[in-house]
Amino acid sequence: MNQLKKQFNSKKTILAIESSCDETAVALLEATQEEFFIRKSFIASQQKIHARYGGIVPEVAARSHITALMPLIKKTIGRKIPDAIAVTAGPGLITSLFVGVHTARALSYIYRKPLIRVNHIEGHIYANWLSNSGSRVKGQKGYRVEGRVKFPALALIVSGGHTELIFMKDHGVYKIIGKTLDDAAGEAFDKAAKILDLPYPGGPAVSVRARYGDARRSPLPIPMIDSKNHSFSFSGLKTALLYRVRNLKESGQYSEQMRDHLCAAFQHSVVTALIAKTVAAAQEYEPRSILLGGGVAANESLRAALASAVAPLRQRTELVISPLNYCTDNAAMIAVAAFFQMRKKRFVSPFACAVDPVWGITNE
Ligand code: KG4
Ligand code: ZN
Repeated sequence: MNQLKKQFNSKKTILAIESSCDETAVALLEATQEEFFIRKSFIASQQKIHARYGGIVPEVAARSHITALMPLIKKTIGRKIPDAIAVTAGPGLITSLFVGVHTARALSYIYRKPLIRVNHIEGHIYANWLSNSGSRVKGQKGYRVEGRVKFPALALIVSGGHTELIFMKDHGVYKIIGKTLDDAAGEAFDKAAKILDLPYPGGPAVSVRARYGDARRSPLPIPMIDSKNHSFSFSGLKTALLYRVRNLKESGQYSEQMRDHLCAAFQHSVVTALIAKTVAAAQEYEPRSILLGGGVAANESLRAALASAVAPLRQRTELVISPLNYCTDNAAMIAVAAFFQMRKKRFVSPFACAVDPVWGITNE
């Protein structure tokens, strides 16, 4: 304990690197025992590059990470040497992950500083520790280490590659209680956008259109709504949308306005399914907090629907939602996850920090 105290008596810095998909991100976290600060957080987005192809091209993503990463690290730390290096080692695109992990391994070795291996999904969970209301140290820019999250917590993580309900007993202790049987929620939004001739990434494009549409005009099914388990499924919904668009085109009813209605209907079905499963899991597991993270958590309709759905549980359950700027991929969330590992001295050797493109949050 004394040693731990000593470790945090002075401020410590963590340099975090995220390159699991199509965003090159670097952040610098500074921490004491009671609070932490995100001093820098930069993202070099590749979205414009991949939009040309209508989706992520892994080879192109990896090459872009290579060009973007070192300048971003320089911009983040300048000449200062951080006290630890953190990196996303999976899950994600293997070639993209390699860029971040090998850079982090080299920095850890050269600087002789500890290396922290972070799971990307764990990062999305820890974005909730960056929630503005209640987590901030009064009158300061820092976040309280205790924050608003009380354990046990139930996290709904919805991203381009994952849709999972995770029960979290304590820091680093996870149990997956539900996941998607096929497409992830973000992937479903991206595929729906393609069907509706909207640009990549599909989530933001569909949600903007949905604002102008009426979900009741051409309603779509709500997937798995009657199933008793906590699983999700979105591929049937995508197929229903595909056939609906085909029929509307054939009957000459596929207008601009109809596209807005279909966006609203699609978003309504995804959001309703996500909320229903989360509320059912919350009733069964009785968590003290409910967390929301991942790229799809940037969806305003989902944020609002979750807030009203869990309102009746508010007496015993706190709702914490990742701030908008930390929902989609970023390195600040990786830095926060790493900070909680650092407190437990969970480091890896720079010679052994392996990339794992299918790394499950419950596996080592
Ligand atoms: O977490 P993230 O940045 O990357 C992964 O880890 O996959 O999530 C990206 C996903 C994409 O599928 C994107 O379409 C979706 O998040 N997304 C949204 C919104 N913003 C991003 N989905 C729905 N509504 C949004 N506003
Ligand atoms: Zn992500």
